[in-house]
Amino acid sequence: MTQYRSRIAGTGSFLPEKRLSNHDLEKMVETSDAWIVERTGIRYRHLAEDGVNTSDLALQAARKALDEAKLAPTDLDMILVATVSPDMPMPNTACILQHKLGARDCMAVDISAACTGFVYGLTIADQFIRTGMYKNILVVGAEILHRYVNYKERETCILFGDAAGAAVLTRAKDNEDSKIWSSHLHADGTISDLFVLQAGGSAIPFSQRVLDENLQYVKMKGREIFKHAVRTMSNACDEALAHNDLKAEDVNWIIPHQANLRIIEAVAKHFGAPMEKVVVEIAEMGNTSAATIIVALDKAIRDGRIQRGHNVLLTAFGAGITSGSLLLRY
Ligand code: UT7
Repeated sequence: MTQYRSRIAGTGSFLPEKRLSNHDLEKMVETSDAWIVERTGIRYRHLAEDGVNTSDLALQAARKALDEAKLAPTDLDMILVATVSPDMPMPNTACILQHKLGARDCMAVDISAACTGFVYGLTIADQFIRTGMYKNILVVGAEILHRYVNYKERETCILFGDAAGAAVLTRAKDNEDSKIWSSHLHADGTISDLFVLQAGGSAIPFSQRVLDENLQYVKMKGREIFKHAVRTMSNACDEALAHNDLKAEDVNWIIPHQANLRIIEAVAKHFGAPMEKVVVEIAEMGNTSAATIIVALDKAIRDGRIQRGHNVLLTAFGAGITSGSLLLRY
């Protein structure tokens, strides 16, 4: 069977204009700019205005990615939206985005793998391209997390923000040497209680109890997640190198999930990479779950850090606990 290769033909990202600074948060909970910067590296997070939905952020990012790829929405064979903050449980956000974009009848589905969602999505898209089933696939990571955060709880409200990023993956031509080397995906449901949003599903449908007990907000065991984040992302990076018989020096850029600067630094240290080779965008946007990696990738491509031919290693972890890596030649 002919095996095709995938190529990122275009990327785009979008951050809402409104920003919440650490100093703003100082007025809302007992915290300080110094604590947040030192413990997380975050300075700002962007917040979508009321009435703006996840699909709206996704639309902005998707249009930029399609422009860059020189493709029309009608060229798309599949739309994947990685998100844990969909517009609503049903229909999926990918179908809403398909309509807003003006794409044609094509497969459109959401991926729920929390912060690892974009890496999962890119992997799924790559498989459809490798087999020859589809040629042009839009993969989006989009979140409006601030609506799931309790602004009375300092442990979580300082971390999360809203953003969207998108990549158009296409079948590479013979003269283009871009490819996805490999991806290595994991999930460990035995520790799924570390990071949860309990209400709104079939287990705890919305009711007065949900509001009384604040079950509509994310709850996490931060310190424990921290440990698993470093371990799972480091292991996934090792797997990518071993599988492709590459050395750390062969990787031009690492883009870890942007959850905490100290987690990113620990992964870079394990990998033996200087921080100059790590794309870090956390100060400006905080943790935007499925969007962080694709937003960081887009920024680094647009400002010229990442060039065609560079090897880029993406690695993520998130609620689930999901984790994984994906090594690509841009
Ligand atoms: O995408 C996955 C989502 N989740 C994560 O990535 C979370 C990963 N974990 C982390 O990023 C870190 O664990 C946090 C940033 C959440 C917390 O940082 P930490 O260095 O692990 O702090 P800690 O939980 O060990 O708390 C240390 C102290 C505590 O006070 P005491 O008990 O020592 O008196 C906390 O109550 O810091 C306190 N604290 C704060 N102080 C000021 C916790 N949050 C804050 C805050 N401002 N916002």
